Amino acid sequence: MNKSLRKAVIAGNWKMNKTPAETTALINEIKPLVADADCDVVCCVPYVDLFAALEAAKGSNIKIGAENCHWAKSGAFTGEVSAEMLKACGVDIVITGHSERRTYFGDTDVTVHDRTRAALDNGMTVILCVGEYLEQREQNITMEVVSSQVKIALAGVSKEELDRIIIAYEPVWAIGTGKTATADQAEEVCKAIRELIAELYDKEAADKFVVQYGGSMNAKNADELLGKEDVDGGLIGGASLKAPDFAAIVKAASK
Ligand code: 13P
Repeated sequence: MNKSLRKAVIAGNWKMNKTPAETTALINEIKPLVADADCDVVCCVPYVDLFAALEAAKGSNIKIGAENCHWAKSGAFTGEVSAEMLKACGVDIVITGHSERRTYFGDTDVTVHDRTRAALDNGMTVILCVGEYLEQREQNITMEVVSSQVKIALAGVSKEELDRIIIAYEPVWAIGTGKTATADQAEEVCKAIRELIAELYDKEAADKFVVQYGGSMNAKNADELLGKEDVDGGLIGGASLKAPDFAAIVKAASK
């Protein structure tokens, strides 16, 4: 498996943070700091901030994404936003399956599959999140959990469509807790995900497939995590809200 075949992707997941005015200010602050990045840079922002973010990022190397999408085209789904609507707003990237959606908003492996499918059908790139709870890690079933999440989400996804999928491995116990997986723990699961992609598709697909790590990645630990063979980037929560910290992670991925 050859890391040089893959371009790292550093994506911020802003979660439920920032007003449109604050979004403009933060993107403007990040822009010059990541202008010479040798990796892809993405900021996934709340729906209401998308227009401000797209406008502020115009002409820069920052791509703007959303944090979720609904599977239906349109209809009676109060409070939801469809992939088609996002695409029409000029958004090409979306996160699906984040553990906060699974834990607090009832997302299941099946609805994550459906949201992923809708995003692909609308020509979008998906950052698909998977990861185990602490109890599952302690029961030694991390790979069973992660592989069933991956298999269900990717059911019916063609090899061509796989080019528009990134998997973010986010152990739930490491999210927002300041408790990062060790680089070896991150590598072990990211590598296993790549092997699963090889099994489900083929080695060529697996070699170019981007697997991110997420969970308390920050300016200090990014170098070590991103130095691992199978960790091709990061999905960053807290540290993506501070321009210098986010830029430091982008720099670590650009080496
Ligand atoms: P933190 O970086 O705040 O731990 O969040 C990780 C995450 O959930 C990114 O999607």
